[in-house]
Amino acid sequence: MSQVLIQNGRVVTAVDDYRADILIQDGRIEAIARHLDVPDAVIHDAAGLLVLPGGIDVHTHMEGPQGPAVNCDTYATGTRSAAFGGTTTMIDFAYQNKGDSARQTLDRRLALAEPQVCIDYSFHLILTDVTPAVLSELPGLIQTDGISSFKMFMAYPETLMVDDADIFRTMHKVGEHGGMVNLHAENGGVIQVLIEEALAQGHTSPKYHALTRPRLMEAEATHRAIRLAELAELPVYIVHLSAPEALETVVQARDRGIPAFAETCPHYLFLDEQEYDRPGFEGAKYVMTPPLRPADCQHHLWRGLRFDDLQIIATDHCPFCFNEQPLGLKYSKQLGADSFAQIPNGAPGVELRLMLLYDGGVRPGKISLNRFVQLTATAPAKMFGLFPRKGTIAVGSDADIVLFDPEQRHTLSAAAHHSQVDYSLFEGRQIVGKVAKVFSRGELIVDGDRWLGKSGQGQFQKRAASGRIL
Ligand code: URP
Ligand code: ZN
Ligand code: ZN
Ligand code: ZN
Repeated sequence: MSQVLIQNGRVVTAVDDYRADILIQDGRIEAIARHLDVPDAVIHDAAGLLVLPGGIDVHTHMEGPQGPAVNCDTYATGTRSAAFGGTTTMIDFAYQNKGDSARQTLDRRLALAEPQVCIDYSFHLILTDVTPAVLSELPGLIQTDGISSFKMFMAYPETLMVDDADIFRTMHKVGEHGGMVNLHAENGGVIQVLIEEALAQGHTSPKYHALTRPRLMEAEATHRAIRLAELAELPVYIVHLSAPEALETVVQARDRGIPAFAETCPHYLFLDEQEYDRPGFEGAKYVMTPPLRPADCQHHLWRGLRFDDLQIIATDHCPFCFNEQPLGLKYSKQLGADSFAQIPNGAPGVELRLMLLYDGGVRPGKISLNRFVQLTATAPAKMFGLFPRKGTIAVGSDADIVLFDPEQRHTLSAAAHHSQVDYSLFEGRQIVGKVAKVFSRGELIVDGDRWLGKSGQGQFQKRAASGRIL
């Protein structure tokens, strides 16, 4: 591959902030210096731009199944959308069907994703059927296949939920071999009772999704997950944390020296439960799990991000169209038109993470520029065994680089994003800061509004141990 030279930019990592030129060769960062002159290189002028490591989104659902529903972004459309938002690596999910081996689970997802993905990628393996045979496969997956994180659900009793015994068994096995367990932490049994009670009283509108998933049941499951991990002696990662009460149990565990980690998502930082008061079925656009919380919860999450009680911001991009057309009912929120309990859970956002956090986090001074990079790239890489190949700008690292214009004003809308989803959680929001160019292993894949990437160019990443970042 020819050489690429990024000149005159302001290079920002989790710890550095300086002006330099960056030389890329064969997809990797070859040299960084105050001034570099390389006559044959293709030059990109980054004057006035931030030069950031490519974002790493460790929580996405592309073409994921959810009961009768399927996410409306494919591996092709979803990763292109991610790239336009400055994300160059994602960790998506491989879903185990009951009866399937872990190997079948991984191979089936790899076959689906590989020809389509536009950015580098890996999977967390979702376990729904924890048999002795499946447990015996996990060491090999960690050590040979580079799958070092396993996700389980404490919610969704009718489809995905596993009990404490299976969580604990998995933790034991995974912890012995350098892996980590990720938990969707909500008390699924209690939530099921609340859903049945609401339906029995004739409550079917989207806001009952939020009213039947109380913060206390997120906190309860978070506490249980951490205590199970404490006994099993392995690191534990709580996905999509939304409630201050859940954060509090993470803080307490960390104060006791337990390797408990957690992510939150942009929608919990910038939106609140009032969205469920929208007229008609509009609130269904905001039906994700956990639900949006009262506005007062947000400052607790920001404090968690500042003090490193929350280590990562991921999107939980789990898109379903609002309208049935043109993709079809199974890709749409309309599956739940008659009952909130049938609305596919999840919301889009893979493209917006860096821009929302720059505008709403860095600009108002809630987090520093370095912390922004830490939360969106460096910590994800370290947490999930991708560092230092990914997650920073350093000699020898993959040249996954984002040129970011910190001054550009623009308006978020479904018409402007690149996902197949037909709505935006942030429709009409005016923000400052936009992704200008994106390089994936040295190849320019996004240039302003132009798409230069290709389906199938993303590479599967074998990961090292997860959760060893204390
Ligand atoms: O609402 C959500 N988050 N849907 C995706 C599945 C999950 O719980 O992560
Ligand atoms: Zn979840
Ligand atoms: Zn408060
Ligand atoms: Zn999710």
